[in-house]
Amino acid sequence: MLTGRKIHLCVCGGIAAYKAVETVRLLQKAGAQVQVAMTANAQAFVGPMTFQALTHAPVLTRTLDPGEEMAIGHIAFAQSCDVLLFAPCTANMLGKIAHGLGDDVVSTIALAAPVGRTPVLIAPAMNTAMWENPATQANLALVSARGYRVLLPDAGALACGAVGPGRLPEPEALVAAVMEALAPRPLTGRRVLITAGPTREPIDPARFLSNASTGKAGFAIAAAAVRAGAAVTLVHGPVTVPVPPGVEAVAVTTAREMHREVMARWAVADAIVMSAAVADYRPAEVFDHKVKKLDGPMTLTLVRNPDILAEVGAARTGAHPVLVGFAAETGHPVEYARDKLVRKRCDLIVANDVSAPGAGFGTDTNLVYLVTAEGAEPLPLQSKEAIGQRIVDFLAVRLADGR
Ligand code: CTP
Repeated sequence: MLTGRKIHLCVCGGIAAYKAVETVRLLQKAGAQVQVAMTANAQAFVGPMTFQALTHAPVLTRTLDPGEEMAIGHIAFAQSCDVLLFAPCTANMLGKIAHGLGDDVVSTIALAAPVGRTPVLIAPAMNTAMWENPATQANLALVSARGYRVLLPDAGALACGAVGPGRLPEPEALVAAVMEALAPRPLTGRRVLITAGPTREPIDPARFLSNASTGKAGFAIAAAAVRAGAAVTLVHGPVTVPVPPGVEAVAVTTAREMHREVMARWAVADAIVMSAAVADYRPAEVFDHKVKKLDGPMTLTLVRNPDILAEVGAARTGAHPVLVGFAAETGHPVEYARDKLVRKRCDLIVANDVSAPGAGFGTDTNLVYLVTAEGAEPLPLQSKEAIGQRIVDFLAVRLADGR
């Protein structure tokens, strides 16, 4: 239910604007107080009077209106609600939001929205060719990366005669998305520390030892933990994936730097997930000049790096903080994971066989086992995002148990 919740709805100019009317009614039926803002083009499809009559509140139609509408104001409209919903959001409005333009009331509301603190949902609706246009797709990626939640359009017959993706989801689905955005977040008030990506161990100013980790898995866990309401710190090695919105990122290069940053923070964490592919060894000597090649073989002497996971496992008291490690194996992942679980004193080892198809470094999917003292649960091949969510669900259960 949405009793007492304030939902502010921005309507843009598309045929799907008629669905916004039914959405208002359903939101109100669920107990919400709704206010509406409209672009000029939206008013060509549905009159402001319709929304005004339904909501018993003035409809915001212009940025610079004198009188009553100024009393609401686009800034207050953006900042005084529990959920801000753009439905339908046209390709043009999506572009304005992605690029920070504010030349009408709805785009200025988007600019003033406290994304990250208040859920901002964008429900695009447009012709299939416009939806598939690389510019639209790039704009979608931009707004998603900045923390706006995009509700993907349905596929089907469109008003323009085309068949394909672009239809605004039905009002029931829009209301369900609003409810989900307001659902209790199980990690609210918890601190989660995550390590991700590779480390680089320098040989000389031009060369280093590293591995094929891209950080995708750990970054997906960080995004899931933020969605669950946690304060997330992500200590990561050199990666190219973007830091998820709302995450405190600490960039490091070497294993020893990662070790230092984790040791400074682990004791205040409620849960720690170490997904980083930390180099076990580093060159004993780092040359201050580029090493010149010689005829014949060359020998590099390597020394052990600190094992961050094992150190935290040994230092924690009982099962606090909850500790999750990763194991990337080529064969017998469960056996090795069981050993690691005990040896590094973890609550969960996420074990994967990096040699399996669709699993391991650089892929978007992974095939993992969740190995705990209770047993090994094989998960089906799925996206790293979905696996991140499963790990966060595990943290939530363990923290709620107080084990
Ligand atoms: N890890 C760590 N510090 C290290 C090495 C590994 O924190 N110096 C963590 C990784 O982040 C991961 C887990 O330990 O969570 C992976 O361990 P792995 O390197 O596979 O384990 P090892 O015990 O080094 O494996 P093996 O004994 O098979 O070499």
